[in-house]
Amino acid sequence: MSNEAMKKAAAESAISFVTPGSVIGVGTGSTTNYFIELLGDIRQDIEGAVASSIETEKRLKNSGINTVDLNTTGTLPLYVDGADEATKDKHLIKGGGGALTREKIIAAASSQFLCIIDETKLVGYLGAFPLPVEVIPMARSYVAREFVKLGGQPHFREGFITDNGNLILDIHNFDVLDPATTEKQINQMAGVVAVGLFAQRPADMLLVGISNGQVKRYT
Ligand code: A5P
Repeated sequence: MSNEAMKKAAAESAISFVTPGSVIGVGTGSTTNYFIELLGDIRQDIEGAVASSIETEKRLKNSGINTVDLNTTGTLPLYVDGADEATKDKHLIKGGGGALTREKIIAAASSQFLCIIDETKLVGYLGAFPLPVEVIPMARSYVAREFVKLGGQPHFREGFITDNGNLILDIHNFDVLDPATTEKQINQMAGVVAVGLFAQRPADMLLVGISNGQVKRYT
């Protein structure tokens, strides 16, 4: 079974968690795009969705789904999003698509965070995927030097501006052995808007599409 088919299976299994009449959080990326397509089929059953990026907002609208400002909702009952890497502890690296800050906000504002991935994303520990960090433009070089001190290799994501008007540094060769502590440490660097480590607020459940066509749940 292809990666795409495994992503689609994970997305399909998330649909059963959608409660009728609710506003749900929707993430960004190719796996979530399958979820958006399927959500379009039941659009009349939900009140709307909060998008984690401009791209997702466009896709939701194209699927006929009402988009809602997070400031007008209370706590969201459900947030569905993909990840670049995940451990069985449900710690994640996200932000390959650059939407990490809004993704973090929605994850924080949701009671249940379902992470939908294919089995290739499941790892023993985080860090093979370069860790995305959103930075205020004037802090780019300073933050990069701080990561060099920590042993990482920061690469500036050339030509990319986030939906919030900031820049992304991708930190290569940065094994994350204690995700929650590392997340806190990076959050304290001046100029960092958000780091793509989701450990202080991990996923609540991983739905992992596996090669035999089934979806494995980690809770
Ligand atoms: C977007 O910024 C990311 O956090 C995505 O959720 C992540 O990159 C997973 O994307 P794919 O589903 O395309 O692999």
